[in-house]
Amino acid sequence: MTERRPIPAFRGNDALGANHQQSILNVLRMACSEAIRQPDFAQRLQAIKQLFYVRDFDGIFLETANLPVYTAQYVPRRALCYYDIFTGVELQRILRTRPNIMCLGAGSGSELVGISAASCHALEGNGAPITIHSQDYSDWSSILQTLESTIRYKWGISEEQIKYEFSIGDLLRVTPELESEISRAELVTAMFVFNELFSDKVNAMNFVKTIVKNVRPGCYFLLVDSAGSFSSIKVGSKSYMSYMFFDSLAQYFAPILSEDSKWFRHAHGLEYPLGIENMRYFIRLYQRK
Ligand SMILES: C[S@@+](CC[C@H](N)C(=O)[O-])C[C@H]1O[C@@H](n2cnc3c(N)ncnc32)[C@H](O)[C@@H]1O
Repeated sequence: MTERRPIPAFRGNDALGANHQQSILNVLRMACSEAIRQPDFAQRLQAIKQLFYVRDFDGIFLETANLPVYTAQYVPRRALCYYDIFTGVELQRILRTRPNIMCLGAGSGSELVGISAASCHALEGNGAPITIHSQDYSDWSSILQTLESTIRYKWGISEEQIKYEFSIGDLLRVTPELESEISRAELVTAMFVFNELFSDKVNAMNFVKTIVKNVRPGCYFLLVDSAGSFSSIKVGSKSYMSYMFFDSLAQYFAPILSEDSKWFRHAHGLEYPLGIENMRYFIRLYQRK
């Protein structure tokens, strides 16, 4: 924790105030204010966009100076979208069980912010805390700590309600520690990371096997990614949408939610220092058989 601010009392359903989307952006605006003010912000953002264009993900995410800029620019739209996803009936039902959630490739903080906001509606009464474990191959710890302290301060979420954890590891080089973390989770997420793993096809398929092997029967796997051509993976002469790799494993996974293309459009009139784009994504929520 970088800053210790007093944590106000948790107000449950009312924690986000009257305008939930604006409340999420207020957290990000506060946590990212320093990054947005830095003089080379626009220049660095431009460099990140160019690296995305040539699919040089290591060039983006393994350069520490890019991380605060990435979070300020890309996390708002995703945090709003993930809030929307996690306030749906199925995911609220899962959140009410106060699960251990393992978020793979989640260092930039969209999952931490979006799931925490949605949890405010599911934390009635007493019980063990929800755990949100963010995992990534790059060291996002200082950004995640700032987001955590801002969330606790703004929404009054204490350690008795949500515990936050972070670990570093490469999803393309699976270790026994990562396997054991996955197998402890009741919900495992891979949101806007699975496509990127296909820069190394063999190890991306090993990742699929790791999910099959380690998500326990009855537990859930949530896969969300771009619905556009970015999710089209070439294998030999054929192209597949990345969700097809998991859809083809029907003997292991029962689909609970399944949509190939969905728009998330944020409300009008939201205030944030940078523009916020709408998002088109696919979603799969599987239950391990
Ligand atoms: C497009 S960002 C998405 C971040 C976050 N899940 C979200 O939805 O905003 C991809 C994330 O995956 C991470 N990542 C990329 N390759 C990875 C790998 N091989 N192992 C673990 N994390 C990886 C990056 O550091 C980055 O945080």
